[in-house]
Parts: sequence; structure tokens; C-alpha cells
Amino acid sequence: MKQYLTFLLCVVTSFNLEANDATSSNAVLSSAEASEVMKLYAARPLQEWKSSYGDITKEPNYKQLEYAVALLSNTVGTIGPKVQDPKMRYSANSLNCTSCHLNGESNLPGTKKFAAPFTNVMNDYPKFEARSMKVESIAERVNGCMTRSQGNGKPLPLESKEMKSLIAYFKFLAKGTQPHSAMKGTGLQKVAFPDRKASVKEGKDLYSIYCMECHQKDAVGLRSATYTKDASYNFTPLAGNDSFNNGAGMSHLKTATRFIYTNMPLGASESDKPMLSVEQAYDVAAYVLSLERPNKPGREYDFPNPNFRPDDYPVPAYFPDDEVALEQAKYGPFQ
Ligand code: HEC
Ligand code: HEC
Repeated sequence: MKQYLTFLLCVVTSFNLEANDATSSNAVLSSAEASEVMKLYAARPLQEWKSSYGDITKEPNYKQLEYAVALLSNTVGTIGPKVQDPKMRYSANSLNCTSCHLNGESNLPGTKKFAAPFTNVMNDYPKFEARSMKVESIAERVNGCMTRSQGNGKPLPLESKEMKSLIAYFKFLAKGTQPHSAMKGTGLQKVAFPDRKASVKEGKDLYSIYCMECHQKDAVGLRSATYTKDASYNFTPLAGNDSFNNGAGMSHLKTATRFIYTNMPLGASESDKPMLSVEQAYDVAAYVLSLERPNKPGREYDFPNPNFRPDDYPVPAYFPDDEVALEQAKYGPFQ
């Protein structure tokens, strides 16, 4: 057991990053192992946010990076549900990766602080994921978004040109950063959640003031003129069949609140310039998540260890015969 734990810690602290980009240990961790790995991960040194990346067109592998930028910012047109080659239809909805992983000041995909940026992912992965109770590679994490955030999409094969390009792009972003260190500005902004149930009714009113002009009535988005041919939107849908499914990170009320708080309405940014209060973001997120979206089959197998379950994932199978607990997982209050 001790030897095994040492091995896992090596994986997590990425002594051999190259070998761990695509595949990682397939072992399911026990509660004790997971706690140990999380503790070690949290204790990593913290580096400053990186905001400039140099001229991407000067990179020796620019062609590959250019393809990654296209995949991220035009997911619909490159691997979307209506692309010409049926084999390339990996993504199942009308979102782009950059619909959530927003461009930063550099205008590169996934470089906006607190919009789940990709800047430090090469240092952050492999990483323990409670959703599988495994240590996951960066490729596996990408596929987590492929099969949830991109609706019921298909995972990108680990050896595909697409996955290799994405990883090459993440490596480009991480150039000059401290290997194996955490970074300020990654993930989503931490907030203190209101100590009350979120109000779908308040949220609906706030939605019509702050969101509807772009995301439209009932949050169905604004389809482009070429929608029937290419499934593209001018403004992304937050609900319905063309949006993220109910197994996606964004379908969790806390995650959606944190994303909306520092990123929406479009133009809002982290701490210095949020446009909504946390209270408002919480209610508007509850309204958005009260709407219909694709069902992720097999959600009951997510988070197999109840001790490591997030409190904002309303999967009915987690709460047999307990409507009250299910409702609380959906709309809070949370600690
Ligand atoms: C509906 C919104 C959405 C879309 C679309 C989306 N993601 Fe994500 N992604 C998220 C959220 C939310 C997280 C988790 C952020 C957190 O909890 O810190 C995440 C996390 C990630 C991570 C790990 C980041 C980290 O800091 O650990 C990677 C890598 C990633 N996504 C890649 C992609 C790629 C590639 C695509 C397009 C194929 C994509 N995502 C599409 C919402 C989205
Ligand atoms: C000025 C137009 C505009 C307004 C107003 C706006 N958004 Fe957005 N929103 C966008 C755009 C554009 C994107 C996609 C980002 C991109 O492509 O750069 C987006 C992305 C999103 C996403 C992630 C992608 C998806 O479809 O799920 C969520 C969630 C979201 N917005 C919620 C909101 C909420 C809630 C409000 C109101 C508080 C709001 N937005 C107001 C333009 C807007």
C-alpha cells in the first residue's frame, strides 16, 4: 500500500509529465489515498498569473497550434455535429470550447483569468478527479468536456491529430511557467455562496435584464443564418439540445454561479469588474439550470465515492426517496 501511494504521488507531482499526457494510472483511489493525493496537490507552490504569450505565429509548430486554435474557437465548424465528414462529428452541440474557456487579453483561446483558463493545465495535470476517483491525464480531462460540456459528444482518440494539437497548444501556453506549480487565476473565482436556497423566480427576472438581449428568451440562444447547415449560433444557447448536458461542470449550481459572476454579462471580469453580485449570479444560475438540457447517461456512476461527492450535483440516484436532499443539491443552500 505504501509503495503504491508513493507511485501515485509521483504521478500527481508529474515527475514524468511527457509519459502522462495521454494516459494515466487507471487505479481507483481509496478515500485515504485520495485525501493524501489532494493534500499534496494543494501544497504545491503557487506562481503568478501569466498574461502574455509572445507571437504564436513565430512558433516552429505554428501549423499545429493554428489547428488547435480552430478546434477551440470554432469547435462547431471543425468537429461539430454537422461537419461534412461524419467521422469527425465528435462534438454533439453548438458550443465552442471558447464559449466557456474565454479568450483573454492576448486574444488566445482559454487565456481569460477565472474562465477556466488553459494557461497552467500542463502543470496541473495529471490530477486527481473525484468524478472517477482516479488520477486523470490532461487528455482524459479534455474528454470530460467533450462528453459533457459538448453535449453527449464522443471522446477524442488519444492518438488523434486533434488531441495532439490541443496538448501542443497547452504546452505553448505553459512556456516559461514553473513546472508542477499551481497558478493564480486558474479555474473559477472562489466565492462565498449565499446561505439560502437560490431563487429561480428572482433569477428569471435578472435574466431578462442582464442576459436576454444576447442569450434570448428561455436561454435558447440566437441561431445563425446558416444554423441548419452548420449548427452554429451567433449567441450561445444556455439550455436546450444544443447546449451542455446535465453531467457537465457548468450544470452544477456552484460552478455556474462562479463562472457567471466574473464572466457574464460578456465583458465582466474577475474581482475588479464583476457586473452582478454573487447573490444575483447565484439566482440567475439557478434559473438557467432549471431549464431543459440534454441528459448525460450514466450520471449515477459519477463520483462513485459518496465522501468525495460535490454537494451541488442533483443526481436522483444519489438521494433515493429523499426529494428534499435532491432539491437542496439542485438549488442549495450549500455550506
Ligand atoms: C459549457 C462550458 C464548457 C465548454 C463548452 C467546455 N468546457 Fe472545459 N471546462 C468547463 C468547466 C466549468 C471546467 C471546470 C472548471 C473548474 O471547475 O475549475 C472545465 C475544465 C476544463 C479543463 C481543465 C481545466 C482545469 O483548470 O482543470 C480542460 C483542459 C478543458 N475544460 C478543456 C475543454 C475543451 C478542449 C473544450 C472543447 C472541446 C471544453 N473544455 C469545452 C466548461 C466548459
Ligand atoms: C453582450 C452579450 C452577452 C450578454 C449580455 C450575456 N452573455 Fe453570456 N455569453 C455571451 C457570449 C458571446 C458567450 C460565448 C463566449 C464567446 O464566444 O466568446 C457567452 C457565454 C455564456 C455561457 C457559457 C456558454 C453557454 O452557452 O453555456 C454562459 C453560461 C453564459 N454566457 C451565461 C450568461 C448569463 C447568465 C448572462 C446574464 C447574467 C449572460 N451570459 C449575459 C454573450 C453574452
